[in-house]
Amino acid sequence: MKGLILSGGKGTRMRPITHTAAKQLLPVANKPILFYGIEAMKAAGISELGIIVSPETGADVESTVGHGERWDIHIEYIQQDEPLGLAHAVKTAHSFLGDEPFVMYLGDNLIKDAVAPLVERFANSKADAFILLKEVPNPSSFGVAHLNSDGRIICLEEKPAHPKSNLALVGVYLFNKNIHKAIDEIKPSKRGELEITDAIQRLVDTKHHVDSHILTSWWLDTGKKDDMLEANRVVLDEMTDVSNHGVIDSNTRISGRVHIGHGTKISGCTVRGPAVIGENCTLEHSYVGPFTSIGDGAYVSYAEIEHSILRENCRILDFHGRVEDSLIGVNVELTRSNRKPIAYRLMLGDDSKVEVV
Ligand code: TTP
Repeated sequence: MKGLILSGGKGTRMRPITHTAAKQLLPVANKPILFYGIEAMKAAGISELGIIVSPETGADVESTVGHGERWDIHIEYIQQDEPLGLAHAVKTAHSFLGDEPFVMYLGDNLIKDAVAPLVERFANSKADAFILLKEVPNPSSFGVAHLNSDGRIICLEEKPAHPKSNLALVGVYLFNKNIHKAIDEIKPSKRGELEITDAIQRLVDTKHHVDSHILTSWWLDTGKKDDMLEANRVVLDEMTDVSNHGVIDSNTRISGRVHIGHGTKISGCTVRGPAVIGENCTLEHSYVGPFTSIGDGAYVSYAEIEHSILRENCRILDFHGRVEDSLIGVNVELTRSNRKPIAYRLMLGDDSKVEVV
């Protein structure tokens, strides 16, 4: 079985961060989201992986991920010239996939432990497609499935105004070769995309067997800033690699689960986990609160940071204020001259410079 990870798209909901970075390379607990998907594939025994990329971010994705050496698998890149839908991405990858069954995984999704058992179940079933579903409070924002009592799909709808159930399609799908014919038989939707929900509906309409499984563990779709922060919270909450490789002075208090990278220096700070601080960071006279990830090379002084993601080489200097619920891009410099206590919620693209007066 092959794997296909979708890492193209536009990432419009995550601008301005995605003006300069691929959404799938944004870090959750200091690791690119995309790596979680690749690791899930590897854990499911998949050793041949195709990654769909866009012309804008393909080179970045390729240089960050490589060709699979890190995981001892083989990774190929497939460029999708325009983000014309999830089914269009499968069509673009047809020559890589051939007639083999495959797992398709949306590169901006995080799913706890779900892929390996599904691959096994699909391999042992006669299903033509297998989809993963999750009960959600807001089904109108997703592809929604209506099932019969045996768990077989009756119909699927993309972002319906009046959903027939609260079961959303999660970003993992398993298909055999019949999906390619179904995709050839569908037309673009009103939003101009070839929808994977329409292709699966086509399989149902042509009497193919589409099976489903309802996920009970967590699933996170990191389309927007708050989704990223929630993913960071959930992953840090379960973090087990808690080790301190940095240099911490005697005026610093660390409590809870905190991972600190090599070359990092912390002085006069309070750090409350769960939190991760990367390599070669400097933290001085600051408070780092729970659910915070600080990327390599960051410099933070006289600041309070909580429930936030700071990317690599951020500088929050002499700040005397609080940054919370924030996503701060690479190389951002944040300084402040007004010392009234204040809190900020920020989403700052790479290379921003902000001076609060
Ligand atoms: P989406 O989040 O649905 O789309 P997007 O990434 O373009 O974001 P936005 O809606 O904010 O503009 O995509 C889910 C995943 O699939 C994501 O990793 C991008 C990827 N994708 C492709 O690779 N090709 C495509 O044609 C589309 C639509 C998405």
